[in-house]
Amino acid sequence: MVITVNTKNLKSYDITIRGGILPEVGGLVRPLTKAKRVSIISDTNVAPLYLKTVADSFKAAGFEVSTFAFTAGETSKTLDTVNRIMECFLINKLTRTDLAVALGGGVVGDLTGFASAIYLRGIDFVQIPTSLLAQVDSSVGGKTGCDLAFGKNLCGAFHNPLAVFIDENVLKTLPPHYFADGLAEAIKAGAIKLPHLFELFEKGAENDISTVIYESVKMKAQVVENDFTEQGERTLLNFGHTVGHAIELYENYRGLSHGQAVAVGMALITKASEKAGLTEKGTYDRLVNCLKAYSLPFTTEIPLKDLADLAVRDKKSSGDKIKLVLIEDIGKGYVKQIEIENLYAFLKDGIC
Ligand SMILES: NC(=O)c1ccc[n+]([C@@H]2O[C@H](COP(=O)([O-])OP(=O)(O)OC[C@H]3O[C@@H](n4cnc5c(N)ncnc54)[C@H](O)[C@@H]3O)[C@@H](O)[C@H]2O)c1
Ligand SMILES: [Zn+2]
Repeated sequence: MVITVNTKNLKSYDITIRGGILPEVGGLVRPLTKAKRVSIISDTNVAPLYLKTVADSFKAAGFEVSTFAFTAGETSKTLDTVNRIMECFLINKLTRTDLAVALGGGVVGDLTGFASAIYLRGIDFVQIPTSLLAQVDSSVGGKTGCDLAFGKNLCGAFHNPLAVFIDENVLKTLPPHYFADGLAEAIKAGAIKLPHLFELFEKGAENDISTVIYESVKMKAQVVENDFTEQGERTLLNFGHTVGHAIELYENYRGLSHGQAVAVGMALITKASEKAGLTEKGTYDRLVNCLKAYSLPFTTEIPLKDLADLAVRDKKSSGDKIKLVLIEDIGKGYVKQIEIENLYAFLKDGIC
């Protein structure tokens, strides 16, 4: 399955989704680039599993291949790692026309994409996402970057990949906890725009993961095509994220993972919007049943007041209003602006 992403004023690119594609990627990339050298960037969990297969496929396609794996995990998502990735490019003499490859989860994708965006003012990169979250979400849309000491994703650039290759077979080695994280983002995709995907989750989507990936990617690709720089429709992808980010911040990124925090965020905001009469009755129950079915949390002990205070510090708040993504019903996401000082009352009692 191939999905083409056409972003205004930028080169379009294909996302190819096929189980077992990993050993073929080098050959598929060959006609897309004049690159002689390729640096494949991965992390210490993914490299032992898949780096050789991918490196061999690029070598077989005639590329000169170098590799670099950094310590797995969000704590590596720093400017220092970006620097080390660029040093790998330099040591291996990558020029403007050469290529980087991101082989790993969202951390590898974001860092490699960012290093590629700024190295020699920009070189091409290819995404081979290996976590479900990266496959359904982070590898699509061109957002790259890293964390700063002050917070997550505070530094970055928009940089589209040359191509994306998604091999669902690699998910068999993904720890279940990370699998659930990716499911939360796919459930989000269903909740904001794809009622049929949400229904698939209600029936047991884990048996049809290729449809989950295809539908989520297709939806994100369309949204990104319409609104690359997040001036409008792309905001919908933040459903569950305003409260989710606040939970992550409150717990100092040591508590719930991103997908879990987004799951709680989706549930809390929908509970409030249903109380406010902004969401069809019964939607909250459907959402919570779905989250429960995939062992995702839907509630938190953190006081709502603290969450509301942290949420308004979120970078998406502008002026004295905050943009909240709500769902009218399953599959019908929309953006509602509310006054910052009303957020707590809204979360608590659905008053806005
Ligand atoms: N750019 C975007 O638009 C965007 C969107 C959403 C999230 N993100 C970012 O993505 C990151 C989260 O992504 P993630 O959950 O993939 O994190 P991650 O990259 O840390 O991967 C999760 C864990 O799974 C391991 N792993 C990955 N694939 C594996 C496989 N096939 N087999 C075994 N282990 C595997 C990794 O080594 C890591 O330990 C965050 O930094 C977040 O900010 C970016
Ligand atoms: Zn997210």
